[in-house]
Amino acid sequence: MKRPFIIDCDTGTDDAIALMAAFGCPEINVRAITSVNGNVKEEYTSANNLNLTEYLGIDVEVARGATLPFYPRGDYYGPTHGKTGLGDVVIPDAKETSFSRDMAPEVIHRIAEEENGELELLVIGPMTNIAIAISLYPQLKQQIKHIWFMGGAVAGGNVSSTAEFNIWVDPTSAKMVTESGIPMTMVGLDVTTKAVLGREDEQELRAFGSKASVLSADILEYMFKRCKDGGEDALMHDALALAAAVIPECLTCKEAFLDVECRGEYTAGHTVTDIVGRSLGKAPNASVAVELHLDVFRKWLLECIKRCGQA
Ligand code: RIB
Ligand code: CA
Repeated sequence: MKRPFIIDCDTGTDDAIALMAAFGCPEINVRAITSVNGNVKEEYTSANNLNLTEYLGIDVEVARGATLPFYPRGDYYGPTHGKTGLGDVVIPDAKETSFSRDMAPEVIHRIAEEENGELELLVIGPMTNIAIAISLYPQLKQQIKHIWFMGGAVAGGNVSSTAEFNIWVDPTSAKMVTESGIPMTMVGLDVTTKAVLGREDEQELRAFGSKASVLSADILEYMFKRCKDGGEDALMHDALALAAAVIPECLTCKEAFLDVECRGEYTAGHTVTDIVGRSLGKAPNASVAVELHLDVFRKWLLECIKRCGQA
């Protein structure tokens, strides 16, 4: 029986690769893609999701979502994903498909009802849509089976020395979600900064020659240029959160108390993770990834991308 998922994303270069991997994952049934503001404005993240699914021939509900975090942080759209979110990669505009009639929180609610406690969420952008959904429909706390999210860090950050981007954009939402009681797994920078693809992966994908594998190779090519110019490397942040759900053997996770700092001039967006369970004396509420087995992950990711759109 395939596991039903909704993927909430701020597509984004690495989000797009994670989506293609998800569509090539035999274990899961992607019920919907919900868009959120994050890497770029929601008008771009949602357009990327619709264009990508139509380009690949993937029949899935695509919904628009939150355009602002709960506590707007001004203009934080950096150069990492370019103006449109996909760097210099261009996908044809969707012509045949359109957005869901429902916004993200409604889609999450409707599908959670339909899936009767089996729905899992892959959350790979700021958590605004999830927090709004839980606020509108508190029963989601019992209906969502598991949240697998890319965000946070046990140590360090990429927006600052203390905060990772997805959590930093909307710490209020992230705090609401981590306090919800929904079982969750945090895939943070501690492991995603090691989830790097290289030239040989790009060449393998380009040689495979499918729409998804060539598009992924083009995105990797953009990431390599970005890295050469001093930007982020070809880090598969979001695909690793999917891997945590599907091939947990690629990660070592530890139970921990997890909370989010929402205040503090220099610490807002920091994920407090008490892995040792001593210093804060609070019960664990999350599983936190602390080690990555890179070769297992890379092999799996390329296989999923190659299966994408090949049904
Ligand atoms: O910090 C990395 C995260 O921020 C990834 O999800 C990336 O897509 C950006 O959203
Ligand atoms: Ca993302």
